[in-house]
Amino acid sequence: MGSKKVLILGGDGYLGWPTAMYLSEQGHEVAVVDNFIKRQWQAEKGTEPLMPISTLHERIKVWKEVSGKSIELFVGNLTNHRFVYSVFSKFQPDSIIHYAEQPSAPFSMIDRHHAVLTQTNNVVGTLNVMFAMQHSCPNAHLIKLGTMGEYGTPNIDIEEGYLDVEHNGRKDKVLFPKKPFSFYHLSKVHDSHNLYFAAQVWGMRVTDLNQGVVYGADTDETRRHEKLVTSFHYDEVFGTALNRFCVQAVEGVPLTIYGDGTQTRSFLNIRDTLKCVEIAVDNPADAGEFRVFNQFTEIFSMNELALHVQEAAKKHGYKVEIKAIKNPRVEKSNHYYKPTNSSLLSLGLDPIHLSDALFDDVLARVKEFKHRINTDVIYPTVKWQHDTNKADDSDSDLMVVEGTAA
Ligand SMILES: NC(=O)c1ccc[n+]([C@@H]2O[C@H](COP(=O)([O-])OP(=O)(O)OC[C@H]3O[C@@H](n4cnc5c(N)ncnc54)[C@H](O)[C@@H]3O)[C@@H](O)[C@H]2O)c1
Repeated sequence: MGSKKVLILGGDGYLGWPTAMYLSEQGHEVAVVDNFIKRQWQAEKGTEPLMPISTLHERIKVWKEVSGKSIELFVGNLTNHRFVYSVFSKFQPDSIIHYAEQPSAPFSMIDRHHAVLTQTNNVVGTLNVMFAMQHSCPNAHLIKLGTMGEYGTPNIDIEEGYLDVEHNGRKDKVLFPKKPFSFYHLSKVHDSHNLYFAAQVWGMRVTDLNQGVVYGADTDETRRHEKLVTSFHYDEVFGTALNRFCVQAVEGVPLTIYGDGTQTRSFLNIRDTLKCVEIAVDNPADAGEFRVFNQFTEIFSMNELALHVQEAAKKHGYKVEIKAIKNPRVEKSNHYYKPTNSSLLSLGLDPIHLSDALFDDVLARVKEFKHRINTDVIYPTVKWQHDTNKADDSDSDLMVVEGTAA
């Protein structure tokens, strides 16, 4: 496929940085946008990625040294429309990959402040991107990261974005009904509706990638230099399940299953995330098309996932215990779950499976950085239902960190 100008929003993140290097390596002209807000949210929660992360400026410099390729950097906030307009009119992208959102369900469920922050950051940021595209590059293709959590766990098969309905003798095709899990997932639903509307009314080209839970510590490019690693989180707020289980296994603490562990979700390897966005870049949506791909490769219950980690860790000599704890979330157990994912497969995705080799890859990385594991940040403290109704008791730009209040 030919070289394109690809703008990656959220280029300092867990997925954004490896995507930037990968597409740069494929010969695309890549620019990244970030305002480093995730680093501030980490600081607020007292967490750090497992591997130390250099500044984005430094990572871009090292990438140039090892690959000979340049990545342009724009520092700014997507909720500032003037900034977004200036980036789009200067760079004139063919494709925009939009990762730049608050990505954590627990973070969005802390209190009113974090729910409003999440939805403002995500929904307003995406609206600004839509309007900037209309202004400067209306023919460009927006590839927007959504999540499989938008659908929730309905008692029917999950299609890719749409549902054919028959009602009172008439038929129509509607956006698939959404039953999301958190204010974060709701922000993605709101984005999807805004983007569907813009495709219909303005003729925008949009691919909404409803992504499953991503796992993995490395890609080919992150392995090329110690300063090119990505921000692998394992804490209760920003860590995803499998990454957290691997850290618990190496640290020798029990893998914590929320509730009875029958909650079933979809997963994919970080390397497959890169392949999926590449497929979307190479195969743009038509003008006026709001295309939805379910971006995952495998489905596991939390119990199955924990057993996989236990089994793989055992081969490295770790004795791993699995422990059920009270579920801090409100979610169904023993539910039906059958999502389809045929679109990306039919466009050529060749999935990586949770093989032992991959576990070795993640576990070996975790072992290398075992000295940096902080077990204080793993156990869940954010609850979906509060003991008392704290709904509007604070305008908590002023944070009180537990134990520090006078
Ligand atoms: N990691 C997963 O398992 C997963 C699963 C499904 C969907 N997603 C989605 O994929 C995207 C990327 O996820 P991630 O894990 O890489 O998250 P991440 O937090 O590591 O990366 C997001 C980046 O966007 C930046 N950002 C956020 N708001 C911004 C703003 N207003 N202006 C400029 N920059 C901003 C952050 O600073 C951060 O560097 C997110 O939208 C997330 O919801 C992730």
